[in-house]
Amino acid sequence: MAPLIILIFFFIATISPLPTSSLDSKTKTFIIQVQHEAKPSVFLTHKHWYQSSLSSIITQGLDTNPRDIIHTYDTVFHGFSVKLTPLEAQKLQSLPHVITIIPEQVRHLHTTRSPHFLGLKTADRTGLLHETDFGSDLVIGVIDTGIWPERQSFNDRDLGPVPAKWKGECVAGRGFLASSCNRKLIGARYFYGGYEASDGKMNDTIEYRSPRDSDGHGTHTASIAAGRYVSPASTLGYAEGTAAGMAPKARLAVYKVCWNGGCYDSDILAAFDAAVSDGVDVASLSVGGVVVPYYLDVIAIGAYGATNAGVFVSASAGNGGPGGLTVTNVAPWVTTVGAGTIDRDFPADVRLGNGKVISGVSIYGGPGLSPGRMYPIVYAGIEEGGGDGYSSSLCLEGSLDPKFVRGKIVVCDRGINSRAAKGEVVKKSGGVAMILANGVFDGEGLVADCHVLPATAVGARGGDEIRRYISLAAKSKSGSVPTATIVFKGTRLGVRPAPVVASFSARGPNPESPEILKPDIIAPGLNILAAWPDRIGPSGIPSDGRRTEFNILSGTSMACPHVSGLAALLKAAHPDWSPAAIRSALMTTAYTVDNRGHHMLDESTGNVSSVFDYGAGHVHPEKALDPGLIYDISSFDYVDFLCNSNYTTKNIQVVTRRKVVDCGGAKKAGHSGNLNYPSLSAVFQQYGKHKMSTHFIRTVTNVGDPNSVYKVTIKPPAGMVVTVQPETLSFRRVGQKLNFLVRVQVREIKLSPGSSYVKSGSIVWSDGKHNVTSPLVVTMQQPLDD
Ligand SMILES: *[C@@H]1O[C@H](CO)[C@@H](O)[C@H](O)[C@H]1NC(C)=O
Ligand SMILES: *[C@@H]1O[C@H](CO)[C@@H](O)[C@H](O)[C@H]1NC(C)=O
Ligand SMILES: *[C@@H]1O[C@H](CO)[C@@H](O)[C@H](O)[C@H]1NC(C)=O
Ligand SMILES: *[C@@H]1O[C@H](CO)[C@@H](O)[C@H](O)[C@H]1NC(C)=O
Repeated sequence: MAPLIILIFFFIATISPLPTSSLDSKTKTFIIQVQHEAKPSVFLTHKHWYQSSLSSIITQGLDTNPRDIIHTYDTVFHGFSVKLTPLEAQKLQSLPHVITIIPEQVRHLHTTRSPHFLGLKTADRTGLLHETDFGSDLVIGVIDTGIWPERQSFNDRDLGPVPAKWKGECVAGRGFLASSCNRKLIGARYFYGGYEASDGKMNDTIEYRSPRDSDGHGTHTASIAAGRYVSPASTLGYAEGTAAGMAPKARLAVYKVCWNGGCYDSDILAAFDAAVSDGVDVASLSVGGVVVPYYLDVIAIGAYGATNAGVFVSASAGNGGPGGLTVTNVAPWVTTVGAGTIDRDFPADVRLGNGKVISGVSIYGGPGLSPGRMYPIVYAGIEEGGGDGYSSSLCLEGSLDPKFVRGKIVVCDRGINSRAAKGEVVKKSGGVAMILANGVFDGEGLVADCHVLPATAVGARGGDEIRRYISLAAKSKSGSVPTATIVFKGTRLGVRPAPVVASFSARGPNPESPEILKPDIIAPGLNILAAWPDRIGPSGIPSDGRRTEFNILSGTSMACPHVSGLAALLKAAHPDWSPAAIRSALMTTAYTVDNRGHHMLDESTGNVSSVFDYGAGHVHPEKALDPGLIYDISSFDYVDFLCNSNYTTKNIQVVTRRKVVDCGGAKKAGHSGNLNYPSLSAVFQQYGKHKMSTHFIRTVTNVGDPNSVYKVTIKPPAGMVVTVQPETLSFRRVGQKLNFLVRVQVREIKLSPGSSYVKSGSIVWSDGKHNVTSPLVVTMQQPLDD
């Protein structure tokens, strides 16, 4: 029989190519870049021209739906988006005025509420800059899920008129009037063409076809960047105090691109296009996807256009940590923000029947467990009498037997469904409380959630201890019942150490450009209190009927808008600074020491963290205002960088929209690490026997005192000899630029085959008043067969 079966499979396999013609007629969204100046004058508008190009290539046949243009782009990009079959895309690509065709990616929000994200923690509200008038003429564009405009955080009390330069609009839609904007929220638009063209269809009963936020993420991030002072603010009694964004007087413009089905590239690019032409100063994007070369990455392309127009773009690094190579949004013209903890947490400890106390965190705000009473505790993963042990340990919908869990505290493992959804499952099944335990992969990183029942989160080690206690009790001859309770301790301030790099925060090295260290910086991203829509409960799950003005969320999504707000303040103080200058100020003044005076730790291991975790370090708002020197970057420098990244002339044209790209000079001048970046990353593809060395050329601009003398202090990475020439920079005026050369030489080091070598150090320029610090990291591989 066996050969026959194989034959049948083989037969099926051989005929399977037949249906490909039907596959070929399947359309998907592409983003088309055109030489916009090539438009023949017979066409009134670019859109007419694009439509005509399209009708010349659309396949005639069964599927003759007119292909509607989804968006046209004319500010950060020139072209349009449309659904095409692969064959049509090919034909379109062959038209002379078409530069490139980029397949659409779907992006996702960088909040840890999404079940596939790990980790957790809090937010920082250093108040020093808040009461200044800084930022009131600056506009921060938040590209996200929209906004709940009635929130206190968006009131316009005492704000002057809308800045005269503003060209944006308040676009009305369902549940959102043109009058929903005010002098704080000065612009609101929404882009859904890409979403609706995809397989994701808008459900108008649960989504607003308007700038109104049906998710909460955009309201939260917008208020972190530029929320007004609101006092008192708290979530269900936690984190009580005054809430304010980083730039409370800056204006907000929201560009809604994320819907229930995700955030589509064609919509994101339309948002960049509109934001830049509206006149934003800062674009904040807490969204990301898979890292691809920049010429295929619509966020990188849109961000380049924005940066070139003088708009500072900050983006979240992603929540794929703690593993390496997980950082996203890595283009060197984007400021990539990872997440750290703040010195506030929400302890909620588990006390076991044997007296052991396991620390956990929670922002559960309802009636607690009876004080002093011990409850029976069960582990969802070892349900007696069968069941699917694996899935039930995760407390998936329908996996808990009420007979097993009723009246008990239930231990659930992290994974698959969201943390809050697990709580709902336990509650529905009659459990009285939940303990959410990390797996080995999650490590010790904890995120506090507004659960719908008394619940706390514990780390991997604590989880093991609890499970061990339960299983020992079950095996004991006396038949003792394992018991526990959860003690909610509210808000704890002055936590040490802080900051700590959040477990989930995505890490370097940079998968696309290893010569550019990413993330650039970290900012508060764990347990951040910020505004929340009135339509969604704080747990984010649909059945949650609680309503709160504020909510506490975690993610690099929350870290990014801290930097966006800071960038607006810096631009207000230094209107002539370029986006690169602003980033330089943030990076060279960042710190790597926690509030105990020790090197910052990594939450996932409790070990010391590295430059791949935090880049230049944690942002230091006041110091960034007065950095002394800056590393500036022009658009020519970015072209040189792309040349030295081995991109073709055409690839470079796609990103930069330059008609002429000549890489000759750039290639002679060196390597991609020579981009005038405030951090230095030396990459040796392999450790050779001969003397290995590399060099960096850097240029610093004096933005401090006119007459100042900076001396260098070098901390070489272990195993390296580092020299800087000259060792003294004497400035005579503000704005003066001076160059220096950094040479990195590898000493004899022993590297076993297949191993890699990563060490970091730093270069600090100091005039006695400013320390201008650049991390220097060296990466080396020893190939297996050498
Ligand atoms: C839209 O969402 C509502 C509420 O979840 C649901 O009842 C309805 O079936 C959905 N409609 C469509 C067309 O999916
Ligand atoms: C933490 O550091 C110790 C000592 O260097 C090391 O042995 C251990 O492997 C580290 N743990 C992790 C998870 O990296
Ligand atoms: C770039 O191209 C040059 C010449 O073709 C080659 O020697 C070099 O290895 C390439 N670099 C990378 C990073 O691919
Ligand atoms: C600069 O760094 C040195 C060495 O860490 C430190 O002693 C000094 O106080 C710093 N100066 C400023 C102005 O921060």
